[in-house]
Amino acid sequence: MEPITLLQPKSIVFGKDVINTLPEATEIKQSQRVLCVVATPLLKAMESVVQAIQERGITLNVLEYNYVGEPTFKQVNSLLEVSEAFRPDCIIGVGGGSVLDCAKLLAALTHNPQTLTDVSGIGLLNGRNIALICVPTTSGTGSEVSPNAILLNEETAAKVGIISPFLVPDACYLDPVLTVSLPPKLTAETGIDALSHCIEAFTNKFAHPMIDIYALKGIKLISENLKQACVKGSDIEARAAVLLGAMYGGLCLGPVNTAAVHALSYGLGGKFHVPHGLANAVLMPEVLRFNMPANPERHAEVARALGVTVTGDASAVALAGIARIEQLGKDCGIPQRLTDIGITKTDIPELATIAMKVTRLLKNNPRTVTEADAIGIYEKLL
Ligand SMILES: [Fe+2]
Repeated sequence: MEPITLLQPKSIVFGKDVINTLPEATEIKQSQRVLCVVATPLLKAMESVVQAIQERGITLNVLEYNYVGEPTFKQVNSLLEVSEAFRPDCIIGVGGGSVLDCAKLLAALTHNPQTLTDVSGIGLLNGRNIALICVPTTSGTGSEVSPNAILLNEETAAKVGIISPFLVPDACYLDPVLTVSLPPKLTAETGIDALSHCIEAFTNKFAHPMIDIYALKGIKLISENLKQACVKGSDIEARAAVLLGAMYGGLCLGPVNTAAVHALSYGLGGKFHVPHGLANAVLMPEVLRFNMPANPERHAEVARALGVTVTGDASAVALAGIARIEQLGKDCGIPQRLTDIGITKTDIPELATIAMKVTRLLKNNPRTVTEADAIGIYEKLL
């Protein structure tokens, strides 16, 4: 067994209405100035919490976050100016993965001479002096527990990963009530993204027993509850299960991370602005079909966690699992083909070129992916 380090927030607070206990967080009690970065649709839901924090005599500024897609360097830098001027000693991020990633970077870079460019890559941040609390309101990235932040370099249209132990929040509050207003389409896309984090970690070349347990539980929770969360958004138990599954997916991201599904989706997001979850959802079944021969037994275990009960050799069970994922996507209204999301045959060479550059994820894939393989996978999805 290889050595492994699992980093996670000191407090993970989970459950219905736990957002109301946020003002009691140690990090807030120890602060005088709090910057709360909130996605626009959540401003109203956060009003009473903001007021409760202010009633403690804490100076709190709400910074509305209304960007779409992964934050760009320019966007983060402009919010960084606000944060520098405000001088917070605690930052709270409330929103989807992009908001949380942005809050994580603000906490790390406010009053830090390092720039975004300096810290782009793995392990380049020197530290973080500002407390950080993340409140996810989609059930997707698991950013609330992970050391990762993903940006878009607007000059090159390339996604950039910033990965550092200093990006792991001090605390996170996971309240399914905050996910209830997420529309079915976003619930589906972010939920399948979370499922892909668990599956790519479990079938990863660097899979590890310490992480496998999270991955399998995440697969089970999401596959059993995502459809219900999409068709009946007010079902708090289904919302809670998907939120927890996504958090397990986030715990997989630090020590093991994703693989070819995410690598092949980079160009779809960076160049063609397909939402991250949607890109992964369209790609995942075909990439798993490609990967499966490299390790049929692991893929069969994924299938069993997905609820597949067929018996037979590992490959047959694994293929039934991939069919189950496709069916889940269909049930949740996810398009099945690249052509459904505006991608044509002529786009494929460029997508493959971009994917081949994502070596930090491709190295994790259970089967080597060549440029020709990537082209083959994209073409099967036309
Ligand atoms: Fe993802």
